[in-house]
Amino acid sequence: MAEFSNNIARLEPSATLAITARAKALQAEGRSVVNLSAGEPSFPTPGVAAEGAWTAVAAGKTGYPPTPGLPELRGAIARYTAETTGAGEVDPGSILVGAGVKQGLFNLTYCLFGEGDEVLIPAPYWPSYTAIVHLSRARPVVAPLAWEDGFRLTAAALEAERTPRTRGLLVNSPANPTGAVADRDDLAGVLEWAGEHGVWVLSDEIYRRLYYAEDGGSAPSVLDIPDRPDHVVALDGMSKAFSMPGWRIGWAVGPLDVIGQAAALQSQTTSAAAGPSQYASAAVLGSSERESIVAAFRETLDRRRRSSLETLRDAPGVEVVNQPGAIYHYLRLPEGADSMATAEALLLDGGVAAIPGEAFGTPGYLRITYAADDEALAEGVRRIVEFFDRT
Ligand SMILES: Cc1ncc(COP(=O)(O)O)c(C=O)c1O
Repeated sequence: MAEFSNNIARLEPSATLAITARAKALQAEGRSVVNLSAGEPSFPTPGVAAEGAWTAVAAGKTGYPPTPGLPELRGAIARYTAETTGAGEVDPGSILVGAGVKQGLFNLTYCLFGEGDEVLIPAPYWPSYTAIVHLSRARPVVAPLAWEDGFRLTAAALEAERTPRTRGLLVNSPANPTGAVADRDDLAGVLEWAGEHGVWVLSDEIYRRLYYAEDGGSAPSVLDIPDRPDHVVALDGMSKAFSMPGWRIGWAVGPLDVIGQAAALQSQTTSAAAGPSQYASAAVLGSSERESIVAAFRETLDRRRRSSLETLRDAPGVEVVNQPGAIYHYLRLPEGADSMATAEALLLDGGVAAIPGEAFGTPGYLRITYAADDEALAEGVRRIVEFFDRT
């Protein structure tokens, strides 16, 4: 048995991936399981991405890319950000491209926080946040948000957990797992609070374009807030809105010195994100089809969101809220229900894989995705209603 270092003393394997693997194993045994656990859009990669990658590879562009990203891609991200947020002109030098938002978050957290620092994480949260903060040897401090309040992110919820050691805050809007979206005023309030207390804000905006409000298109970004403090970094990527999770491209937009240090760290770990994936992403972001690609995904997801919500409302004892963003419903179970045991029973007896709230720091809930294809989603939510009817 190998002995492992202290670096990974708090490392826990992803609960989401574990359930997904279990669902796949049951399917391989011939069991009928509808997998609503993984947060992965069901759409194929846009054709323009494959073309961009292939053209570059065929032209022999397969050398090491520059660590912070290909100039073509950083330029395309700068224009995309300027066109879809209130950032104004964006300096490509303020952008670091990495292997997904996850790598960007890791790089920044590792560079900015360490031993003795506290990093606030509003709950429910994406499980990688606590894991990444632990890897940087800082302490994740959970700031609970309230179901009754629609999991609204407010400066008051953060202030309640602030101590003299608070150095950072991870914001996620639209949020995984709740689908909640911070409005502009709440975001401005959070940034003002962060400015007052010298707290670094890492804003994970991977679901920014998956926003289904009437005036949809883009959920509010920290980059929309004109008088935001300097210590704010926005992260976004190709995985969700462009349905390209396997290409592993994400980026961070932030102050030059921080982006420079994060790039230095990346230069000693992965060197750079994969070149063909960068060419593919540049092709999509620079394409005249870009907005119609996002709009088509958004329309389909919204249709799935509404129809699954409608069906889930019939599940006895389960509460579900109409939230305007991301790709998830977060179901509240009846008072006192054990969400771990419920997820297990739903998988084995109900034939649906869902993630228990424990994974997101909030027992008593189940997360399902509505990004599964139409048929699987309809069958999955039908089974969920039937399961709760029976139990
Ligand atoms: C909140 C959140 N951030 C980041 C990611 C991962 O993004 P990427 O694929 O760009 O690493 C996910 C994926 O599920 C997510 O839910």
